[in-house]
Amino acid sequence: MAKVKLITRFFEIEDANLLPIYEANGGYAAARKVVTESWPPDKIFSTVKAANLRGLGGAGFPAGMKWSFVPKDAEGPKYLVVNADESEPGTFKDRHIMLKAPHLLLEGAIIAACSINAEDIYIYVRGEYYQPTQSLERAIEEAEDAGFLGKNIFGSHKNIKVHLHRGAGAYICGEETALLSSLEGFKGWPKLKPPFPAVKGLFSKPTIINNVETLSYVPIVIDKGPEYFAKLGVERNGGARLFGISGHVKKPGVYELSLGTPMRELIFDHAGGVRGDRKLKAVIPGGSSCPVLTADEIDVNLDFDSLAKIGSMLGSGGMIIMDETTDMVKVLLRICRFYAFESCGQCTPCREGTGWMTRIMERVASGEGTSQDLDDLYDVAGMIGGNTICPLGDAASLPVLSFVKKFRAEFEAKVSAAKVPAASGKKSAGEEI
Ligand SMILES: Cc1cc2nc3c(=O)[nH]c(=O)nc-3n(C[C@H](O)[C@H](O)[C@H](O)COP(=O)(O)O)c2cc1C
Repeated sequence: MAKVKLITRFFEIEDANLLPIYEANGGYAAARKVVTESWPPDKIFSTVKAANLRGLGGAGFPAGMKWSFVPKDAEGPKYLVVNADESEPGTFKDRHIMLKAPHLLLEGAIIAACSINAEDIYIYVRGEYYQPTQSLERAIEEAEDAGFLGKNIFGSHKNIKVHLHRGAGAYICGEETALLSSLEGFKGWPKLKPPFPAVKGLFSKPTIINNVETLSYVPIVIDKGPEYFAKLGVERNGGARLFGISGHVKKPGVYELSLGTPMRELIFDHAGGVRGDRKLKAVIPGGSSCPVLTADEIDVNLDFDSLAKIGSMLGSGGMIIMDETTDMVKVLLRICRFYAFESCGQCTPCREGTGWMTRIMERVASGEGTSQDLDDLYDVAGMIGGNTICPLGDAASLPVLSFVKKFRAEFEAKVSAAKVPAASGKKSAGEEI
C-alpha cells in the first residue's frame, strides 16, 4: 500500500491551520533554514530538481526547472504567483490544503519566492472558495505577526509580502496567462507564449506560477531531503500527490499516494471500490479535461509518464469514477456544456467549436442525432485541439475524442437508426425512395 502522509498528516492534526500548532509540528523549519542560511537560488533549484517534484496543477512540469528559467540578471521586481483557482471539474485537493494546512502553502511559497528573489507573492484564489480564502487570510496575518512574512523575515534582510486575490468564478482564470491578465485588472484572457511568464509575466516582469499543492510539497522536500522525496515516487515523478477521488466509489475523498501507485489500488483499496459493488465502467483520471479510460485500462500506474503512455493524463489528480449505470452520452454532454460556457471566446476554434460540439451533443442526448453527428463531433473536436492560444481548446476536445472513440457503441445506440444525414444521400435499410 503506497499511502503516505506528507501533506495529509497536517489534515489529521487538530487545528494544524493555526500557526502555533503548525510550528509545533515542524512547520516553518524549512523556510527558516533557507532564509537564515541564505541559500542561493541555485541551491534551492537543484534541491527541488533532485526531488523530481513535478507541477501538480495539471501539466506536470518539473518545478525546480521552471524556477531556474527566471533570468538572473533581470532588473526590477520578480513575482511568485500561487494558482489557487482550482476549477477543473473533479478537482478538490487544493481546497483541503488551504483549509487545513494554509501555513504549509505559505511556507512553500516563501521558499519558492526566495529561489527567484521575489519580494511579492500573489495568491489567486477561486472566487467561490470563501472559506479557503478566510483560512489563508488568517494564516497570512499570523505569519506576518510572527515575522515570517513582511519585512526582515526570520530576522534576515529579506522582505516578502503576500497579496491575496479572489477570482470571480471563471475557469479560464486558472490558465496561467489568463490568471495574470486577471490579476493585472484586465479581462481574464490567455496570452500567447512565448514570451513565457518566467521571462515576461505579471506586470511584464519575470513571474513563476505554481499550483497550491506543488508549493506545499516544497517545505517537505527541504525537510526530508530530495533523495527521500524522489525515492518515494518513480523515475522522473518524485514523491507523492493528493488524489481527489469522486463519483461512484464507496469512500470518495482526498488520498495521498506515492506517484507510481497502481490506479486499481486507489480505486479498490483506498476508495473502497465501486458503490453497490457494481461494475466499473469508466474513469476520468485527472480532471474532466483528461481522456477517459475504460474499465480495461485501469491497470496503469498513477504517474505522469504512465498515464501519457496510454494516451491520457494524470492532470490535477481529480479522478472521477463511473459505474456500469452511467450514461456516457449524458456525461459528455455535461462536460461539453462546461467547456462551452467557460470558453473565453478569444480564439475562434474554441469559441465556435465548443458551442458546436454542445449543440451536437444536445441532439444526440435527446435522441435526435444521427451517426453523421457523431462523425461531425469527432471532426470538430479534432479541429479545436492545438489551434488555440491556450490549452482550454485541448481540454474541451480531448474528452470528446476519447468518449466517442471508446464508447462509440453507446453513442450509436442513441442516434436513431432510421435517421440518415440529408446530405449523404444514403438511405437507411427499409426506407422508401
Ligand atoms: C483552462 C485551464 C485551467 C487551469 N486551471 C488551473 C487551476 O485551477 N489550478 C492550477 O494550478 N492550474 C491550472 N491550470 C494549469 C496552469 O495553467 C499552470 O500550468 C499551473 O498553474 C502551473 O503550476 P504547476 O507547475 O505547479 O502545476 C489550468 C490550465 C488551463 C489550460
